[in-house]
Amino acid sequence: MSATLRIGIVGCGNISDNHFQAYAALPDVEVVAVCDIDPERARVFADAREIPHAVSSVAELAALGVDALSVCTPHPTHEAVVREAAAGGIHILCEKPIAADSAAAARMVEAAHANDVTLGIVFQKRFWDGARNIRAAIDEGRLGIPMLGHCRVLLHRGRDYYDAAAWRGTWAADGGGVLMTQAIHYIDLLQWFMGEPVEVSAKAGTFVYGDAIEVEDTAAALITFASGAIATLSATVAASPNLGTAITITGTTGATVSLTEYPEGTDAVNDLWAVPGEERAGSVFEHGLSGDIPVEEVNARLMPMHRQQVADFVRAVRTGGSPAVTGEEALASLRIVEAVYESARTGRPVRLAEPSTSRALAHLPATVTV
Ligand SMILES: NC(=O)c1ccc[n+]([C@@H]2O[C@H](COP(=O)([O-])OP(=O)(O)OC[C@H]3O[C@@H](n4cnc5c(N)ncnc54)[C@H](O)[C@@H]3O)[C@@H](O)[C@H]2O)c1
Repeated sequence: MSATLRIGIVGCGNISDNHFQAYAALPDVEVVAVCDIDPERARVFADAREIPHAVSSVAELAALGVDALSVCTPHPTHEAVVREAAAGGIHILCEKPIAADSAAAARMVEAAHANDVTLGIVFQKRFWDGARNIRAAIDEGRLGIPMLGHCRVLLHRGRDYYDAAAWRGTWAADGGGVLMTQAIHYIDLLQWFMGEPVEVSAKAGTFVYGDAIEVEDTAAALITFASGAIATLSATVAASPNLGTAITITGTTGATVSLTEYPEGTDAVNDLWAVPGEERAGSVFEHGLSGDIPVEEVNARLMPMHRQQVADFVRAVRTGGSPAVTGEEALASLRIVEAVYESARTGRPVRLAEPSTSRALAHLPATVTV
């Protein structure tokens, strides 16, 4: 690998500039080429940023000798790009969700292992200060065992959002709705806080945008974790105004901590922190901010977290260490999304794994009636 890390970006749409800006801010890293199946898009993107090459295939990127690339294409195309890059010995930072289905995601993880390349998945909200504070409190035992979680995703996407890109809102090209595209960020955080998911019961529906999209705009689920801990997930893209997102975790010490992201895209704050001796509370709404912001602005606000995740990926490539979010972890959050869909379709709980044999938390026997 050369002293300067040579980067390619695949897909020149909404989120690609976050990757470009993040790489451009790092020393000894150069974005040498961009790639899009639409050559004109690639050319315009490259010219605006003085990127030397604009190409339309991963093979051309490989021929230019890139060391690593970012995958910023629609989810169902991630697998082909990642596998081709891995086969060429190129390290990969892939946008979330890792893929549109877990079989594809498992093949991507396998391809990265087989070719000994780094595969990181962008879940940049792991870099929120508010998320890191919660994870540290859990790691340091200040909550005991996280036993109860609430994950609330009350976002707004208008019809214009779905009209702007033909792939959005379809099962074939988007792989799902609010769960697959938006809530998966918070599902990733929930499993990062609460551990391995083992069972999911859920309902989902298209309550508002049925005339515009095939996929769900709204869903609710109960998730059980290997420890026996339980969490509720509720998500919609049909809230108006956009009220952002929140995650609350209560542990067996009785302590409760939460984070709130409002407006969507900004760094989440710990608006409730009820750990003995560290109590604090505040409302993100008291500052009079508006949650109704265009999606492009949401993406721009994500930039500081993209910067941190891209820097983490470059560190992993240089040191051979593990990236902040591995392909395996991204596969786990995708499996929760798929389990929600299956449970909603069948009306039955979906078992993802066996509960821990040394269960930390006991449940009521299944036969108890109230
Ligand atoms: N991390 C985040 O918060 C975040 C935010 C937005 C989007 N994303 C993810 O980024 C990905 C892209 O989303 P977007 O909104 O930027 O999409 P977009 O539709 O704006 O752009 C996608 C681009 O990829 C190109 N493309 C499609 N297939 C290709 C292929 N095989 N090879 C090369 N180029 C190809 C398209 O021509 C288009 O220019 C999605 O997986 C999405 O979920 C993540």
